[in-house]
Amino acid sequence: MARYRVGLIGGDGIGPEVIGETVKVIKAAGVELDTVEYDLGADRYLRTGDVLPDDTLLEIRALDAVLLGAVGPPIGSTQVPSGILERGLLLKLRFELDLYVNMRPFVTPKGWNRFNIEPMDMVVIRENTEGPYVGEGGLLRKGTKQEVATQGSLNTRFGVERVVRYAFELASSRPRRHLSLVHKTNVLTYAGDLWQRTFNDVAAEFPDIETAYSHVDAACIHMVENPTRYDVIVTDNLFGDILTDLCGAVSGGIGLAASANLNPDRTGPSLFEPVHGAAHDIVGTGKANPMAAIRSGALMLEFLGEREAASRINRALEEYEIPRVAKTSAIGDAIAERV
Ligand code: IPM
Ligand code: MN
Repeated sequence: MARYRVGLIGGDGIGPEVIGETVKVIKAAGVELDTVEYDLGADRYLRTGDVLPDDTLLEIRALDAVLLGAVGPPIGSTQVPSGILERGLLLKLRFELDLYVNMRPFVTPKGWNRFNIEPMDMVVIRENTEGPYVGEGGLLRKGTKQEVATQGSLNTRFGVERVVRYAFELASSRPRRHLSLVHKTNVLTYAGDLWQRTFNDVAAEFPDIETAYSHVDAACIHMVENPTRYDVIVTDNLFGDILTDLCGAVSGGIGLAASANLNPDRTGPSLFEPVHGAAHDIVGTGKANPMAAIRSGALMLEFLGEREAASRINRALEEYEIPRVAKTSAIGDAIAERV
C-alpha cells in the first residue's frame, strides 16, 4: 500500500486537538501516513513573528496533502492584528498551492432534526482563489476624517470557468444531476455577468445537468426553509464562505462540516480542513467535536485514491450516534474503533 506524506498544521485553538483525532482515525483505517508537523499559527507568530516562512512553503509544496485544524487568534486579541494569520497562512496556502476548488459537502446525520427539515445531502463548490479574497484595495488618508477604503473583487474568465466546470463534473457524478449558481447578479452586475455567462457556456457542454440560479440572499432563505432544493451549488469565494456556515448550521451543526481545498490539476498538495474555526473558548475542555476534521480526513483519503478507507470512515461517522456529552478524544476513539 502507498504511504502518504501529509503535513499537519494543527494551528490555533482546538485545531491541534481535532487534527490529533483525525490522524488516529486515518491510521485505524489502515492508511500509512508519514506525518510532518508544522508549528504555525498564533503562538508561532507571537514567539517569532513568522506566519509562513518561504522554506516551509517550499517543503509543503512537495507533500502529498495537508491537514489543517484552524487558523485565527482569539476574538478581540490585540496581539495579533486581524487578518495576519488568515491572509498570511490559510489564504496564502490556498493561493500559492492554487487550491481553486473549495468543496464543502453537507450531509445531515441520521436522527438529526434540530430544525425540523428534511435530511440534506448537498455540496457547495466555493471558488477559492479569487473574488474579494485576493485582497485588492487599500486605505487612503488613514485615520483622518477624509479616510477612504476600497476593497476590490477579482473575477477572471479562467478562474470562474475552471471552478464552474469542476462543479458541473461533480453534478454529473451525483444521482440528481442538478447544479445551481448562487450569486448576486442583480447588484454585482459586472462580476455577476461574467459568472452567469461562463455558467451558461459551460452548461452547454453538460446538456443532461439541470441548472438553476439563486441570488445569495434568497439562497439563505431556501437554506433554512427548503434546503433540499439544492444538490450542488457553485458560487463566489465570499458568498461561499458565508453560505457554507449557514449550510453547516442547518445540516447538522458546524461541528460536522468538512471541507476540501483542492488543486484538481494536482500540481501540488491539496489541503483539508474543518469549516469551523479555532473556538478558543473551549480549548482543552474536551468539548471540541473532531467529526468535522475526521470527515475532512476522509475527503483527503478519497482525493488520494484511498476510496475504501475513506468510505469506511464515512460509514463509521454515519453510524456513530452523536452523544450529548462526549470528550474530543472519546469521540475519536469510538470512531477509530468502528473503522
Ligand atoms: C473558512 C474560514 C476562512 C475563510 C478564514 C479563516 C480566512 O472562514 O475557511 O471558511 O474566510 O475562508
Ligand atoms: Mn468561513
